[in-house]
Amino acid sequence: MKKILITGGAGFIGSHVVRRFVKNYPDYEIVNLDKLTYAGNLANLRDIEAYDNYRFIKADIVDAAEMSQLFKRENFDAVIHLAAESHVDRSISDPTAFVMTNVIGTVNLLNAAKDSWKGDYERKRFYHVSTDEVYGALGETGMFTEETAYDPHSPYSASKASSDHFVRAYHDTYGLDTVISNCSNNYGSHHFPEKLIPLAINNIKNELPVPVYGKGENVRDWLWVEDHARAIDVIFHKAASGETYNIGGHNEWKNIDLIRLLCSIMDKKLGREEGASAGLITFVTDRAGHDLRYAIDSTKLQRELGWVPSLQFEEGLEKTVDWYLENEKWLNDVTSGSYQAYYETQYHGR
Ligand code: NAD
Ligand code: DAU
Repeated sequence: MKKILITGGAGFIGSHVVRRFVKNYPDYEIVNLDKLTYAGNLANLRDIEAYDNYRFIKADIVDAAEMSQLFKRENFDAVIHLAAESHVDRSISDPTAFVMTNVIGTVNLLNAAKDSWKGDYERKRFYHVSTDEVYGALGETGMFTEETAYDPHSPYSASKASSDHFVRAYHDTYGLDTVISNCSNNYGSHHFPEKLIPLAINNIKNELPVPVYGKGENVRDWLWVEDHARAIDVIFHKAASGETYNIGGHNEWKNIDLIRLLCSIMDKKLGREEGASAGLITFVTDRAGHDLRYAIDSTKLQRELGWVPSLQFEEGLEKTVDWYLENEKWLNDVTSGSYQAYYETQYHGR
């Protein structure tokens, strides 16, 4: 029996992690803590919310006193920490929100764990979910390994890098059992349509312009979100204390090539003439400080813990498109209200 706190479980990746743990580990008690920001959505977890081993707590990790009381009351065995502000474009317009949640929120959780687990650190675990963006940008060649020096460029990646440093500092200074993983770009169901793939799917579906930043030459390494959740499961259970693992799909795509592939998949699914949706592609002003290329070397994870990605990108992208087309209500609900204002501010006049 283990009682695990998963933070950010109502978000995109968190909901896949919560679902996996609730279903695969009936002996574990899974407590999902989430503030339910614009990105958090309990509809992501409808299928498992009635399970006996699942519980939801609405709370803000920035509230230090609440985190401290919660840890003392609940006596968790472990934390899997995903709660974060996660969108680079939002970090450019409001960096402070990223410092508050990603840095202060993480430190609050570390303090709560350090204080409430004192004397019992070897039986507890703090797992911090991070990103490949902490390593900065690659040129045409090379890959990020666990040894690559941190070099973040956006307020988002700077805040995640800072949180990673705090996690390592609590391991080295206080002896807390910590693990960090740094993953590449995820895609799949329940992805909020501010991010490239779901935004493009939504716009193609509604015959709206598909905004591609700059010339579309930036490269991302895409991983099926359920493969990320499986990697987190493996690392959580098998990694030694203080370890770091990179997670990635060995699946690099230039944004423009990815969007063209998506257009072609959607033409077929929507019964449109081949090439019709590609006409929606619109090149817009580039993102400030836009990292050229990310590519993850996940050899360490494959060699030491036996994880490999399961899905080919074309198959995963089709499954993703199918999910969005079948879940029109989910998409309509999350794109109504404040999404419209965000979209207008982010893309108007670009
Ligand atoms: P998301 O934005 O979809 O979800 C974040 C969740 O955190 C939401 O449910 C939100 O309500 C919650 N949250 C935000 N602020 C909070 C606060 N102050 N207190 C409590 N809850 C709060 O993000 P995601 O894409 O699912 O990313 C999850 C984690 O994985 C993040 O730490 C992110 O840095 C990391 N990550 C994401 C990717 C990716 O491609 N999306 C890749 C690598 C790593
Ligand atoms: O690499 C992991 C990171 O991947 C995660 O840590 C972040 O949380 C996650 O948001 C993601 O960051 P990116 O900035 O790479 O993802 P995004 O979907 O915002 O953008 C992907 C690429 O597409 C990037 O080069 C910018 C570009 N883009 C994005 C949007 C939203 C466009 O060309 N047009 C767009 O409208």
